[in-house]
Amino acid sequence: MFAVPELQGEFENMRVLSGIQPSGTIHLGNYFAMMKPAIETQNDAETYLFIADLHALTVLPDPGDLKSRINDVALDFLACGLDPDKTVFFRHSDIKQTMELTWILSCLTPMGFLERCHSFKDKIANGIKPNHGLFAYPVLMAADILLYKSTTVPVGKDQKQHVEVARDIALRFNNRYGDVFVLPEERIRENVAIVPGTDGRKMSKSYGNTIELFGNEKQSRKRIMSILTDSKTLEEPKDPETCPVFALYKLFASEFEVAEMAEKYRAGNYGYGHAKQALVEVFMEYFKPMRARRAELEADSGYIESVLSKGAAKAAETAEETLREVRVAIGLD
Ligand code: ADP
Ligand code: TRP
Repeated sequence: MFAVPELQGEFENMRVLSGIQPSGTIHLGNYFAMMKPAIETQNDAETYLFIADLHALTVLPDPGDLKSRINDVALDFLACGLDPDKTVFFRHSDIKQTMELTWILSCLTPMGFLERCHSFKDKIANGIKPNHGLFAYPVLMAADILLYKSTTVPVGKDQKQHVEVARDIALRFNNRYGDVFVLPEERIRENVAIVPGTDGRKMSKSYGNTIELFGNEKQSRKRIMSILTDSKTLEEPKDPETCPVFALYKLFASEFEVAEMAEKYRAGNYGYGHAKQALVEVFMEYFKPMRARRAELEADSGYIESVLSKGAAKAAETAEETLREVRVAIGLD
């Protein structure tokens, strides 16, 4: 069963929820901003994590790809320490209540809430021809969050506005129909709010600048060695604070190691190649046990499916309870 420990202090009334789209291979930005913080709360707070396959439909993925990516994301989370006896871990599309709540919330959502969303505007600016799903996506995300009465949503900075939309929709609902929903808050770790990619921009599957958690080791090394830096010579002193290699190194290394590397940057006679090599080493070391665990889990056919269906049963129970309250509140019971 779900062995949520006795909750105390700040965790007492906390319900943590987050989701990730199975739209590509999990990378360091996803891991440090969302996966790690969400997994870490499972011992202290009630935690719900899901694979947002319905969200991924906005880009109409190939059906075979979608299926295998869902499996891969599940493996990644379990390898990284998600304990399915503590976290309710499920596949989004297994929870049919989400669709009903999405429609109800859609009718309460002013167009302006969605027209303002940066993520939608950025996609259009990048030449994506939007479908209605992409436009309405924040309402689906609001339903995900509100259905479980989540208090706390760990995400990267780019999702902040979507959590704000969920909060605004919850407020509109509560003002009109009474206090059914909890108002959720995003939880963003400032030091990992925007993890840089190999080209210095935000690491993102859509920019092709990612360092994958469990890519082939040779390839990961190559990716790290290809990180874009300025053209300072080996001898010149360098500024660690503007360098993506240093920013990534900081995610793994101890305070002492970080201070030591910063010192070397500033002193000169320390090349970007040296820093990249140090990054390769901490990266490999950090993910080594998780890589081994992933290989073990991968060999256990049927495990993922059993974990996800058990999670879906529990998630559906919570979702149905909330939806029952919603139906009563709006006069549809
Ligand atoms: P991507 O931009 O690669 O498609 P997603 O949109 O699937 O990533 O993001 C999944 C989660 O990871 C979200 O909470 C998002 O905010 C976070 N995230 C993704 N990339 C980064 C990054 N470079 N820095 C910080 N957080 C990130
Ligand atoms: N929109 C999120 C992303 O692209 C994924 C997501 C869907 C999500 N539903 C959510 C995140 C609910 C937090 C809470 O990364």
